[in-house]
Amino acid sequence: MATVAEIREALRGVKDPEIGRSVVDLGMVRDVEVVGGRVTVTLALTTMACPLQGRIGAETKEAVQRLPGVAEVSVRFAAMSEAERARAFGAAEKRQEKPTAAQFNHIAEVVAVMSGKGGVGKSLVTALLAVSLAKDGKQVGILDADITGPSVPKMFGLQARPEGSPAGLLPVPTRLGIRVMSINLLVEREDEAVIWRGPLVAGAVKQFWEEVVWGDLDYLLVDLPPGTSDVPLTVMQSLPVAGLVIVSTPQDLAGMVVRKAVRMANQMNVPILGVVENMSYFTCPDTGKRHEVFGPTRGEELAAAAGAPLLGQLPIDPEVSRFCDAGRIEDYESDAYRELARAFARANGAKVKAGTAR
Ligand SMILES: Nc1ncnc2c1ncn2[C@@H]1O[C@H](COP(=O)(O)OP(=O)(O)OP(=O)(O)O)[C@@H](O)[C@H]1O
Ligand SMILES: [Mg+2]
Repeated sequence: MATVAEIREALRGVKDPEIGRSVVDLGMVRDVEVVGGRVTVTLALTTMACPLQGRIGAETKEAVQRLPGVAEVSVRFAAMSEAERARAFGAAEKRQEKPTAAQFNHIAEVVAVMSGKGGVGKSLVTALLAVSLAKDGKQVGILDADITGPSVPKMFGLQARPEGSPAGLLPVPTRLGIRVMSINLLVEREDEAVIWRGPLVAGAVKQFWEEVVWGDLDYLLVDLPPGTSDVPLTVMQSLPVAGLVIVSTPQDLAGMVVRKAVRMANQMNVPILGVVENMSYFTCPDTGKRHEVFGPTRGEELAAAAGAPLLGQLPIDPEVSRFCDAGRIEDYESDAYRELARAFARANGAKVKAGTAR
């Protein structure tokens, strides 16, 4: 005849269907009585009204009946005591504890790159700032928050899909080790159009923050879509953005566009780290002469409008497009961008000292 120990062992195969753990591990087997060929098992349930009582009872009977010498099995139910319940729930919680990305993410600064209008070079500035910071030994990530017009993976020539882990998706590393997450890395084809409504787009951006294992980063740069619409709002609301970098060109109605961005930043209580004027000038390769192609530079005017330092004035460089198109942005060397990265790091340090970091 089966012993009490053997019966308990057999009951390991019976699981609480809701929690998915054995009734033995959950401390639900309160008593096992063996008299001749008759076995009585008493199970403690979290509540006597447990809707799964019938199923657990039937499985218990079946498991015990299979043992040698067992002629009859009856199952009794009792309600768990407080102590038993605490133990059972404690065990269940332990099992359900899933690692989260947040447990692995230690990000010193989240900085969003913003502009009043499209095509001014936000993505390029984000990418080259990341490259310069990485070359200066910083750990950098880029969150491509431009869901409907993502351009970051192409500049770095990234093809690999993000790998999964129990805690979340892993960003794809560039050759210099910049960690990138973009919707472009997740869609089947690079040129696939993402046509989503606003809330879905905002949801995806939030997921890139909450469900991506970024790890330890000095900077997470967020490449925003143009304008001051849904996504910039979501980013500023849902991410601990420490500061904004505003990109503009001399061509813009600079003052107005920057003022709009400043208003939004103020409303959202996010400091502006600095302003970058892109496409400020073109240096003629033949004569070495500077031409202000898009009109006189307005760097100082921009900085005054933003109440923040001018981090850099970047030249128009036809070379840069070639590097972008070839997916080799990391090979592009430019003093202007190295200087930009240093000014950025200085502005960041000043902000932290001034205690405006969030
Ligand atoms: N300083 C520059 N010299 C040469 N080409 C540039 C420069 N800045 C940007 N470009 C080119 O201009 C185009 C637009 O740049 P980019 O994609 O970075 O702008 P964006 O502001 O991110 O645009 P969007 O608003 O669509 O996101 C790209 O092809 C880029 O290579
Ligand atoms: Mg862009």
